[in-house]
This record gives sequence, structure tokens and C-alpha cells, in this order.
Amino acid sequence: MNFRLQYALALAVAFGVAMLLTFERPPVVTDQTGYRGTGMDEIRTARAVAALKANNVVPPAQDPAAPGGPLATTEYKNIQVLNNLTVDQFNRVMVSITEWVAPDQGCGYCHAEGEELSSDKLYTKVVARRMLQMTRQVNASWQNHVATTGVTCFTCHRGQPIPEQGVWFASNRPHAANAGNPMGQNDPVAAVGFTSLPVDPMLAYLTSIGSSRVVAASPYPGTDTAGIRQTENTYGLMINMSDGLGVNCTFCHNSRAFSAWDQSTPQRTVAYHGLQMVRDLNMHYLMPLQTTWPANRLGPTGDAPKVTCAVCHQGANKPLLGANMLKDNPELAGPAPPR
Ligand code: HEC
Ligand code: HEC
Ligand code: HEC
Ligand code: HEC
Repeated sequence: MNFRLQYALALAVAFGVAMLLTFERPPVVTDQTGYRGTGMDEIRTARAVAALKANNVVPPAQDPAAPGGPLATTEYKNIQVLNNLTVDQFNRVMVSITEWVAPDQGCGYCHAEGEELSSDKLYTKVVARRMLQMTRQVNASWQNHVATTGVTCFTCHRGQPIPEQGVWFASNRPHAANAGNPMGQNDPVAAVGFTSLPVDPMLAYLTSIGSSRVVAASPYPGTDTAGIRQTENTYGLMINMSDGLGVNCTFCHNSRAFSAWDQSTPQRTVAYHGLQMVRDLNMHYLMPLQTTWPANRLGPTGDAPKVTCAVCHQGANKPLLGANMLKDNPELAGPAPPR
């Protein structure tokens, strides 16, 4: 074999391997989400769609509580959140949350052995109480995002004490040591899709009230107030959101004009409310629990666990592919807790 032939063969093998590793096998499924001709489509393989369905199976609900009966507060000693429920409804919630959050551990995950059920000895019970308030808050006050579909503990927990996706902590990656770059770039992490965008756009946008919009409102000088850093953070956040929902940018934007709301899909408006809701969950529910979590639940810099869109969505455009668990669990619908 002469050198040219060897060279051509080596190239062909390299190309073949690249094809094998990077291309997806058909068939593909296409959903058009925008107007004709705008290229606003979601393209997935049939296998990915099947896997998503398998990952989003809803467990059967407990039998409904019998109507009437005494209030739980008359029977039990230490009820601070579920005080509008009857004894039967209350017990039904206890059975359901055990199944959703700690099926292997049972009641003992939150109720210490040998203690009265009213005892708050375990931190898990204190956290679970706050989670009950958080869930009711989402269902009662964030209907502009969750509609009447709502959420239960299962939406995030899926049968485990720690949600599998969407939990994040402040980064302790040594930015400065990284190509001498203090902006958190060139340090690929999953949160921003392994791009060279800043590693923690969530810290910039999901822990305080504010806007992530960066495109100037007019062509005149003085209106383009956002810097490159902020713009990169916005792109990082957008990648994080798209990943969390398992969609492309064009699920929400017409990419010829990212900022134009009149060319965006209605889903972008839902996403806008979602951003405000995630901030509410982080700022008012998860971050204040910092002193309640034990050290092994805190992040590398000692911060509390926080959430992104993926905690509920887990790669689907609607969590649990739009299944409504709330109608079978009316105990979690409300009322909204006081702040
Ligand atoms: C994921 C945590 C968690 C699990 C698991 C759990 N509970 Fe609870 N339990 C709580 C919380 C939180 C409260 C307090 C609710 C409130 O303040 O409104 C509570 C309160 C109670 C109370 C009221 C006690 C009193 O006198 O104040 C009873 C009874 C109870 N649980 C029974 C059970 C049983 C039985 C199981 C297992 C089937 C169970 N719980 C599993 C979190 C949990
Ligand atoms: C929006 C998503 C979300 C919902 C809804 C939710 N949780 Fe959580 N939960 C979390 C996150 C995030 C954590 C912290 C995970 C970590 O420690 O990394 C957590 C932690 C917990 C823990 C502590 C687990 C441990 O081992 O430290 C308990 C108990 C818990 N949740 C119970 C509940 C109950 C009960 C409900 C329903 C009333 C509920 N959660 C609803 C997101 C959620
Ligand atoms: C699920 C819907 C959704 C997806 C998917 C999405 N975005 Fe966004 N995008 C939004 C929302 C909502 C805003 C406005 C945020 C705000 O007001 O803080 C926004 C804002 C932006 C902005 C700023 C626009 C301005 O007016 O300054 C840019 C740029 C942007 N997105 C780019 C992208 C890119 C690139 C992708 C894909 C990687 C993407 N988006 C995916 C919903 C989405
Ligand atoms: C507490 C759980 C939860 C979190 C966190 C959450 N969502 Fe959602 N989201 C839902 C639920 C439930 C629905 C379904 C509402 C319905 O049935 O109309 C939904 C629907 C949506 C839709 C509409 C999808 C469609 O096909 O019409 C978009 C877009 C969306 N969410 C974006 C986001 C973004 C972006 C974030 C993060 C900034 C986010 N969500 C965080 C629960 C959540």
C-alpha cells in the first residue's frame, strides 16, 4: 500500500468514527412550534421521545380521603402547615409524601424512631414542612406558570430524597487558575452545556430579582447598557433553561430577533413567569433553609441547595409531560402560605 492510499484509508476511518459518534440514527420526530418558514421546530429522535415517556410515569394516587371528620389539629399536637385538613386528608398526605420522597426509608425518614410523631428532632421533617409550604405556594400563587396542572413533591423528587436534576450550588472552581480568566470562562461545565460561557449564570440571575435582558432597546448610543459579561451570563442561562426543558432556543425565540416578544412563541411568556417563580423558590424557600441543612447537604462554598428549571422539568417541555397530579391531591393545592 503506498502512502497516499494509507493516508486516504486513515482519513476514511477517522471520518467513519466521527459519523458513528456524532450522528443520530433516524427516524426523527419533528414538531413545528412557530410560523411556517421560520425554522421554529423541535427535532428529536423517536428513541429520545420514547425514553422521555419512560422517565415520566406518574405513580397511582392514594384513595381519596373520606369526606368530613375532625380537623387534624384537634387530634395532633404540632401541625403548622396542613392545619386546614381533616385527619383523613392529613394521613393521606403523609402516606403520599412518603411514597414520593422516601419510599425506601418510610415514615422514619422524617419522624425519629422512639420519638413522638409531633417531635421536630429530624431536620428532614423541618425541611419537609417548608417544602409543603413551597408546594402550596407554587400551586396557589404561580398559576401563570403551572396553570391548574400544578406540582406535587413527586414533580421534583420522583421517589428520592434528593431530586436527580436541577439542583445547583455556587461554583468553587478556581476561575483565576483557569487560563488566567476571572470571568468563569473556558471552564466547561454541564450547567452551561459545556460551552466556554461563565460557569454560574444561575447565581447572577436566579438568586435575586432582576432582568436577564441584554439587547439594546434602540440603535442610539447610551441604550446598550449591558456589558459582555452580562450578555454571556444571559446566553449561559438560556442554555441552562433549554437543557432543562429538552428544547431548542426556537421553542421560545425566533432566532432572527431574540428580544422581540411579538416574534416569540407563547411559551416564552410562560418561561418568563417561570424565571420569576424559580427566583421566589430560591430566595424565599431554599436559601433561608441554609442553617437547617446539615453540612453534607451544603455546597462547596457552604451555600444551600438551589433549583433551576430542570428540577421540575427534567428534560421535558412540561414536567411529567403535562400530567396533572394535583387534581388527585387537592390537599396540596393551597392556601398560599403567608410570607
Ligand atoms: C418527608 C417527610 C415526612 C414523612 C416521610 C412522613 N412525615 Fe409525618 N410529618 C411530616 C411533617 C412536615 C409534619 C408536620 C406537618 C405540619 O406542620 O403541617 C408531619 C406530621 C405528622 C403527624 C402529626 C404529629 C403531631 O402530633 O403533630 C403524624 C401523625 C404523622 N406525621 C404521621 C406520619 C406517618 C404515619 C408517616 C409514614 C406513613 C409519616 N408521617 C411520614 C413529614 C413527614
Ligand atoms: C420545586 C422542587 C421541589 C418540590 C416541589 C419539593 N421539593 Fe423537596 N427538595 C427540593 C430540593 C431542591 C431539595 C434539596 C436537595 C439537596 O439537598 O440537594 C429538597 C429536599 C427535601 C428534603 C430533604 C432531603 C434530605 O435528605 O436532605 C425533604 C425531606 C423534602 N425535600 C421533602 C419534600 C416534600 C414532602 C415535598 C412536597 C410537599 C417536596 N419536598 C417538594 C425540591 C423540591
Ligand atoms: C423556554 C423558553 C426559552 C428558551 C428555550 C430560550 N429562551 Fe432566551 N429568553 C426567554 C425569556 C423568557 C427571556 C427574557 C428574560 C428576562 O426578561 O429576564 C429570554 C431572553 C433572551 C435574550 C435576551 C433578549 C433581550 O431582550 O435582551 C437572549 C439573547 C436569549 N434569550 C437568547 C436565547 C438563546 C441563544 C437560547 C438557546 C440557547 C434561548 N434564548 C432559549 C425564554 C427562552
Ligand atoms: C415548580 C416546578 C417548575 C419549575 C421550577 C419550572 N416549571 Fe415550567 N412548568 C411547570 C409546570 C407544572 C408546567 C405545565 C403547565 C401547564 O400544564 O400548562 C410548566 C410549563 C412550562 C412551559 C410551557 C411548555 C409548553 O409546552 O407549553 C414553559 C415554556 C416552561 N414551563 C418554562 C420553564 C422555565 C424556563 C423554567 C425555569 C426558569 C421553569 N419552567 C421552571 C413547572 C415548573
